[in-house]
Amino acid sequence: MVLALRLFKLPLLIVKIVKALKTGDKQMKNERFTGKIALVTGAGRGMGRAIALTLANQGAAVLVNDVNQAAADETAREIVANGGRALAWVADVSRYDQVQAMVNACLAEFGTLDILVNNAGILGNTRPIEEIPVEEWDILFGINVRGMFNCIKAVLPIMKAKRYGKIVNVSSSAGRSTSTFGGAHYTTSKAAVLGLTRHTAREAAPFNINVNATAPGSMDTEMVRERATPEHIERERQNIPLRRLGVAQDQANLVAFLCSDESSYIAGATVDINGADLLL
Ligand SMILES: NC(=O)c1ccc[n+]([C@@H]2O[C@H](COP(=O)([O-])OP(=O)(O)OC[C@H]3O[C@@H](n4cnc5c(N)ncnc54)[C@H](O)[C@@H]3O)[C@@H](O)[C@H]2O)c1
Repeated sequence: MVLALRLFKLPLLIVKIVKALKTGDKQMKNERFTGKIALVTGAGRGMGRAIALTLANQGAAVLVNDVNQAAADETAREIVANGGRALAWVADVSRYDQVQAMVNACLAEFGTLDILVNNAGILGNTRPIEEIPVEEWDILFGINVRGMFNCIKAVLPIMKAKRYGKIVNVSSSAGRSTSTFGGAHYTTSKAAVLGLTRHTAREAAPFNINVNATAPGSMDTEMVRERATPEHIERERQNIPLRRLGVAQDQANLVAFLCSDESSYIAGATVDINGADLLL
């Protein structure tokens, strides 16, 4: 009788153990950024969106920035639907007044800021140098370079005061070599991001702030799909030794690592992520 009772309880016990393991797994997954506040620029779509969702899935509260209100709202909505915390905030990163207001909003909503992912960027039109309008050069630099400087300038006092911070600037293999989709202005802006990263890293490291860059190769996002023909993209794919373009989640996983304390001795680095397309 006692044995029968024990055998009857066995399946229930197994269910309990499986549930406990699953909960434990979930807790581990969510603990990486628990208590951390992240600002991700250009998080309305593409890699920024994947980065925001990944940091949030691992416990961070995220300020979701974009120039596109509907896109920022949608990313924030998905984070909240997944049980996370998020605030959508529209700001053009090339405008310092808007960036400062965004950082103030972050402090008002979440109380502090630990992580900045400088992801917002534009590709511009692909055309020969002599056909690039001077105004287009300035607009592109305003977003891709001054935008990152603006965000760094606004968050550094907060990070320095708490002697903790993680900053990831999104450059490109264009900044290491030349762009295959954009023009000279894009290539030059992404090279400038690497200089900004190195300089900021040296200044900020004594305050326990890690500053790094990622240099993605060809990634399958709307930025590329909007500018290149399917044939051009297919040619790119065939030239990549891993035989595929990167996806947003590839970059999100790398950024999450660089924002975590697992990478605390990596500072001032540029991490390539390009399927062996660019070997330096
Ligand atoms: N896709 C690629 O192949 C590739 C390769 C290397 C580097 N990158 C870089 O990665 C980053 C993300 O690229 P993506 O492919 O996800 O781009 P994307 O165009 O899909 O997304 C960029 C997001 O940034 C937002 N944005 C644009 N200007 C802004 C501004 N002034 N202020 C705030 N937000 C702004 C856009 O609205 C958009 O939601 C960019 O910096 C890009 O240069 C892309």
